[in-house]
This record gives sequence, C-alpha cells and structure tokens, in this order.
Amino acid sequence: MYEILEKKILSDTVKMMKIKAPLVAAKAQPGQFIILRIDEKGERIPLTIADFDRDHGTITIIFLEVGKTTQQLGTLNVGDSILNFVGPLGAPSDIRKYGTVVCVGGGVGIAPLYPIVKALKQAGNYVISILGAKTKKLLILEEEIAQFSDEFYVTTDDGSKGHKGFVSDVVQEIIEKKENVNMVMAIGPIIMMKVVSELTKKYNIKTLVSLNPIMVDGTGMCGGCRVSVDGKVKFACVDGPEFDGHKVDYENLMLRNRRFIHEEGEACRLAGVVV
Ligand SMILES: Cc1cc2nc3c(=O)[nH]c(=O)nc-3n(C[C@H](O)[C@H](O)[C@H](O)COP(=O)(O)OP(=O)(O)OC[C@H]3O[C@@H](n4cnc5c(N)ncnc54)[C@H](O)[C@@H]3O)c2cc1C
Ligand code: FES
Repeated sequence: MYEILEKKILSDTVKMMKIKAPLVAAKAQPGQFIILRIDEKGERIPLTIADFDRDHGTITIIFLEVGKTTQQLGTLNVGDSILNFVGPLGAPSDIRKYGTVVCVGGGVGIAPLYPIVKALKQAGNYVISILGAKTKKLLILEEEIAQFSDEFYVTTDDGSKGHKGFVSDVVQEIIEKKENVNMVMAIGPIIMMKVVSELTKKYNIKTLVSLNPIMVDGTGMCGGCRVSVDGKVKFACVDGPEFDGHKVDYENLMLRNRRFIHEEGEACRLAGVVV
C-alpha cells in the first residue's frame, strides 16, 4: 500500500498529492509516469511524476478530476493509501543543453512540464516558460515554474491573467523576437500541442510533445496506447510519452481518446460521480 503523505488543492478541480513510494522515487526521472489503482475494484490510470524526492522516498502527482477514478482519488486524504502505484514507466525526457528552450504548458499539462523545466534549467539552458489556462483560477504551479525560468509568461483564454489568448500567440511572438530558439517543449491538450507544433514547423524548430493516449498496462503489451508518429505505429507507454511534435498524427489521437466517452459516462453514473 502507498500512503498519501500530503494533499493540496491547487484549484477547484486540480489536486496535488505526495505519495510514499521509495522504490519508484529511487529511479524516477523527468518525463516518466506511474500507473495507479486505488483499490481492488479500481481501473488503472496513468499520471505523470510531477516531482520526486529520492531522500524522502516520495512521488508527487497532480491530477485533474475528469472522471470516475480521478474524482475518487480526489476524495482520499492524508493517511489514506493507494493499492497499486507502479513506476517509473515510459522513457525519460530528452534533457540536454539545447541553448534557448521554450516550455509551453496548457491546463493540467503544466504538471508534467514542471520537472522538465527544472531539469532543462539545471542542464544550463536559457528557459522561457509559457503557461496557459482557460481562466486564472485554473493556472497551477506558477511560482514553482517561474523560479526555474529565465522568462515567464502567462496566458488565459478569458484574459483574467496575463496575455488574453492562446499560448501559441506568445510562442509566435518569442520566435519572432529571439534570434534563436533551439527547442520547444509543449505539453497540454492535444489541440494545443498540434497548434504549437504546426507553428514551430514553419520555423523549423525542434519540438517535443508529451502524448496522453488511453493506457492500460503501461508496459507495451496491451496496445491501448497506440499512436501514429511519422506514419509508424508507436506505443506511447514504452516509445514515449514524448515524441517529435512535427510527426504526430493528432487527428488519430483525438479520435482514439474519444473511444470510451459513452462507457466513461456510464461508469460515472454507476459510481454516483457527477463530472
Ligand atoms: C502518460 C500519461 C500521463 C498522464 N498524466 C496526467 C497527469 O499528470 N495529470 C492528469 O490530470 N492527467 C494525466 N493523464 C490523464 C489521466 O490518465 C486521465 O485523466 C485519467 O485516466 C482519467 O480517468 P478517470 O477515470 O478519472 O476519467 P474517465 O472518465 O475514465 O476518462 C476521462 C478522459 O480521460 C482520458 N482517459 C481515460 N482513461 C485513460 C487512461 N487509462 N489513460 C489515459 N487517458 C485516459 C480520456 O481521454 C477520457 O476522455 C495522463 C495520461 C497519460 C497517458
Ligand atoms: S498501455 Fe498498453 S501498450 Fe501502452
């Protein structure tokens, strides 16, 4: 059993938990994820390792309550335990000295972006971070990311904080203003990663995205997380979750992620969860 040591409410629907998982913490690296199962009747869900502390043997997860499992997870408190917590899974992020990197996080995608921003800064990059959300109440980890960023920007769809508009507007401004942007890292809703990748492709800037297909086993055996990259079949859980943003078939990913909408609604209804 994996005990919840700390719980923080980051916004109405986003929660942070620190979990005691020393074996996972010993090996965790930025970009990797865990798969958890709350109890013996629970489904497996993947969540990114938002932070890790090897000395204290803890893993931080940050999750948006979207359906049955994430809602149920949100009801757990400090002292409660999670039955299964498997990881670290997936390939670590490609952290090296690129030069100037632009890190773009949208919505709950800001959580997986955080350890990557930190590691890119520690690797000696000039880090420009852009965080975006629908409204300011949904922005998370601003201070944490700003402290590892040389430049820091916020955008909101409704203009309640920072630039009114999309993260891609700021990415474009930065590319046009800076002599050289060596790499862009974008994590967020599929549509956001698609738009950012289309933009950077025009300027021929290397772009990495972190994909979030539906996963089951997380070890490359079930085929659930199949994605199409450069016309080839890849499994996001073992070949990713990070991929070259210019080569991902986003339409296919959006279509596959909508496969179980009806069943998810039914699962929520049966569990008495309203989303
Ligand atoms: C590698 C990876 C890392 C992720 N990291 C985070 C994170 O750090 N924070 C966060 O809030 N979310 C993260 N997600 C998404 C998270 O797994 C889903 O939100 C969660 O599984 C939803 O479960 P649910 O029962 O609450 O909702 P459901 O009602 O079951 O589903 C709601 C939506 O979540 C997505 N989803 C459902 N099941 C899965 C699944 N098994 N795998 C992937 N997506 C699914 C679908 O798009 C679905 O439409 C990550 C997904 C992947 C693949
Ligand atoms: S989750 Fe099963 S193959 Fe990737």
